[in-house]
Amino acid sequence: MNTQHWISHFETNTRLNQELQLPDCTCDLPEPTRAALARSLAIFQLGESGGGTRLRRYTRSIAALESLQGYQRAVDLFVAEEQSHAALLARTVTHLRGTLLKKQWTNSIFRWLRDLVNLEFNIQVLLTAELIAEVYFGLLSLRCSDPVVQTVAKKLLRDEMGHLSFQRDFLFERLKTLTPAMQRLWRWQFRAIHFATACVVSWDHRDCLQSLNVSAADFRARAVRCWQSFQSRLERRLSEDGAQARQAAESTPGYSRSRSATMQSPVI
Ligand SMILES: [Fe+2]
Ligand SMILES: [Fe+2]
Repeated sequence: MNTQHWISHFETNTRLNQELQLPDCTCDLPEPTRAALARSLAIFQLGESGGGTRLRRYTRSIAALESLQGYQRAVDLFVAEEQSHAALLARTVTHLRGTLLKKQWTNSIFRWLRDLVNLEFNIQVLLTAELIAEVYFGLLSLRCSDPVVQTVAKKLLRDEMGHLSFQRDFLFERLKTLTPAMQRLWRWQFRAIHFATACVVSWDHRDCLQSLNVSAADFRARAVRCWQSFQSRLERRLSEDGAQARQAAESTPGYSRSRSATMQSPVI
């Protein structure tokens, strides 16, 4: 994994969030839209505001791996970028005259779920939230007329798309060590958890989606397309890497097909 690329990316990009100027205007959205957006964005703000303690603890467990040198530093900077998102969203909720949250049920489930298995699962749950955020901020940037919400949504959409690439780089390093059968199993559970999350979010944020003229079914369909796009890119990389590994093995003196079948070992 090219962790140096991500370290440079986060160092530059997070500074832009801290310096981002928001339009100097008051919110003049109709009252039901304002209230629905404020509540919805407050939930996303809470989700972005974690300190990354568990994620950092997990990353220490893989710090010695050659292919992930520098990953810990990249994760520290990634967490700082998520905190800059929390700060931007807090400014947006205040602009919408909303109330910041300290606790919310979907956020509590999300935090509990992240800690269930291991680092890879923690990243997968984070990634699920980022895939949902891609759809959510994409819709806000296109359909909300408020200039502050639009500015923040556009910036967060760009950043979250970067995060998707960051998580894909990491998962590629880990998943390529699995057998094809384990990779299929991983795909199945990732798809199921992602779809369940899209259902919960489309229900919990239904008032906000309605104010953007988006049905819950449309939101879920968009979420599924984002997941498919992410997953197909990841699988393309895995199959290219598998083909290269097979070619390299076949050109090795003394190679035989029966030995190659035992080369992959599950790590996750
Ligand atoms: Fe974020
Ligand atoms: Fe993110």
